[in-house]
Amino acid sequence: MELKERVFSGMQPTGSLHLGNYLGAMVQWIEMQKTHACIYCVVDLHAITVWQDPKELRDAIRQVTAAYIASGLDPKKSILFNQSQVAAHAELAWFFNCVARLGWLNRMTQFKEKAGKDRENASVGLYAYPNLMAADILAYRATHVPVGEDQKQHLELARDIAQKFNNDFRAEIEAKGYKDGLFFPQPEPVITGPATRVMSLRDGTKKMSKSDPSDLSRINLTDDAETIARKIQKAKTDPEPLPSEAAGLAGRPEADNLVGIYAALAGKTKDSVLAEFGGQQFSSFKKSLAEVAVGRLGPIGAEVRRLTSDPAEIDRVLADGSARARTIAAPIMDEVKDIVGLIRS
Ligand code: AMP
Ligand code: TRP
Repeated sequence: MELKERVFSGMQPTGSLHLGNYLGAMVQWIEMQKTHACIYCVVDLHAITVWQDPKELRDAIRQVTAAYIASGLDPKKSILFNQSQVAAHAELAWFFNCVARLGWLNRMTQFKEKAGKDRENASVGLYAYPNLMAADILAYRATHVPVGEDQKQHLELARDIAQKFNNDFRAEIEAKGYKDGLFFPQPEPVITGPATRVMSLRDGTKKMSKSDPSDLSRINLTDDAETIARKIQKAKTDPEPLPSEAAGLAGRPEADNLVGIYAALAGKTKDSVLAEFGGQQFSSFKKSLAEVAVGRLGPIGAEVRRLTSDPAEIDRVLADGSARARTIAAPIMDEVKDIVGLIRS
């Protein structure tokens, strides 16, 4: 049996999506729709690994769904749904809880960051988070996963889980007709968005993140033109003028980040941006950056607002996507159960 190429990726519905999500992942998601069968998920089960207010979660799920569509995701062509509507995710995650080793999870840097000092008090779900992520991908036997740089380690774990499952059950897998014990593919990270690591506007050494307490640290896809311009104007910089080539950005994280954002939004290289702005002060560069950002993000924000004004329509899109996702995942789950030696009727 040949493995078909299939794309899977997801984002958490916690807070609104920001420029890092957009440039690090979303732009690549949209691009891959042209060449691949794609499944894009709002990973609500991942979101609840840390406390979410139920009153806000539902809106956040709709908001992220709207942001996917507003950014160019076509829900007719690709499958778009929320994770909790397809039981295979949580179900396969249990199997992977039994495949992954404690030692593997102990190495995950995102858990260490998110759990912080009070590790004893982190949820078990937060610890097992990467197993659920592996299940998301492998429930569809997906082969390509477009993500930002920060997800690389989780993808490596997903590959280790796929390989251990294939090895542990090799005889059963081959008895089912899979050559070389290849039931689960080794999912490949696709880390090639226009900017795979966008940094905070307040601190060029920290990544732009939904969980940063300062809203000034990030540009949200739903920020209006005025807010975008104000955040860029307040962005941290250093006192030197801009260098005339990218090599001059070394050791200047804030300058590097802003030039990188400009380049990614305008579809240029950092060198060509600096050929234009080199030698200038940040104030004039920031004005141009705000224009480029507003030009690109303004229409997306407006479309998100339009789409979220009709929640029932968003729920219909998610229901349709979930039904299509289930038809792919259900037979794979049946095979997993056969392979492991369970009885099903
Ligand atoms: P999350 O918001 O953590 O669910 O991330 C969703 C996607 O956006 C993942 O593919 C991340 O790798 C990507 N992402 C999140 N933050 C950034 C960032 N600051 N720069 C680039 N990509 C990011
Ligand atoms: N862990 C990812 C993040 O925080 C989100 C995610 C969950 C994901 N499941 C996934 C990404 C499967 C790609 C594939 O960014």
